[in-house]
Amino acid sequence: MQRIKTIHFKKISSTQKIIRYFLNFSPVVVVADEQTKGMGRLGRSWFSPKGGLWFSFAFKFKNIKNILPFLVPLTIIETLKKFANLEYRILIPNDIYVKNKKLSGILIEKTKDDYFIIGIGINTNNTSFPDNLKEQAISLKNLTGNNYDNQKILKTFLGIFFSKISKSEERNFIKKFNNYVIKDKLKITLKNREKLVCNIKEIKPNLRIITKNGLEININTIEKIRLL
Ligand code: BTN
Repeated sequence: MQRIKTIHFKKISSTQKIIRYFLNFSPVVVVADEQTKGMGRLGRSWFSPKGGLWFSFAFKFKNIKNILPFLVPLTIIETLKKFANLEYRILIPNDIYVKNKKLSGILIEKTKDDYFIIGIGINTNNTSFPDNLKEQAISLKNLTGNNYDNQKILKTFLGIFFSKISKSEERNFIKKFNNYVIKDKLKITLKNREKLVCNIKEIKPNLRIITKNGLEININTIEKIRLL
């Protein structure tokens, strides 16, 4: 595995922001015990108390833009399976769910000078959530009662990720990704405010969603997706 510089903070605003000061060291990982302004997708905030695993990593790699949305969630699942044998599922675009609750979220960004910055939040040892998240979020410790070594999880994740990316095979990733996707009874709100309930038949390259009744939905037109 190539050497990756790791920078650890006890408490910072967001690993996703702070990593931008360290891009020259890339590949680099910034990890924090706690984030005060954790960032989620679509401008949302991400609850990041002590106990969870919050990290961002940055790197340059050619021609991988299309595989990242598949590769990152698959790598998280493969990693977590080594620590806790649970039924991991993917809620598109790339949230990791167990028992219909969100365990992990992913934020993929690209800088002007072609660095990918991938931010990952995994609820590992944190056990309580604010009222607005209680119904939707869960941690490994909630699920199993065990404590997890965040450093080990991070190291395992990076090992798997960088070995997979160097021998990437897009179609293979998409097939595996499809096996984990939650396909039934999804409530989708489109950016134009239209709402629809659908069952997914298949996810195609570029995260195009094909529904069981033949609709094709582009992921970029979606505002939010919920389980019914
Ligand atoms: C989402 O599901 O909305 C994406 C959540 C991504 C959260 C991680 S935690 C580490 C990194 N730093 C951040 O501020 N966000 C990402």
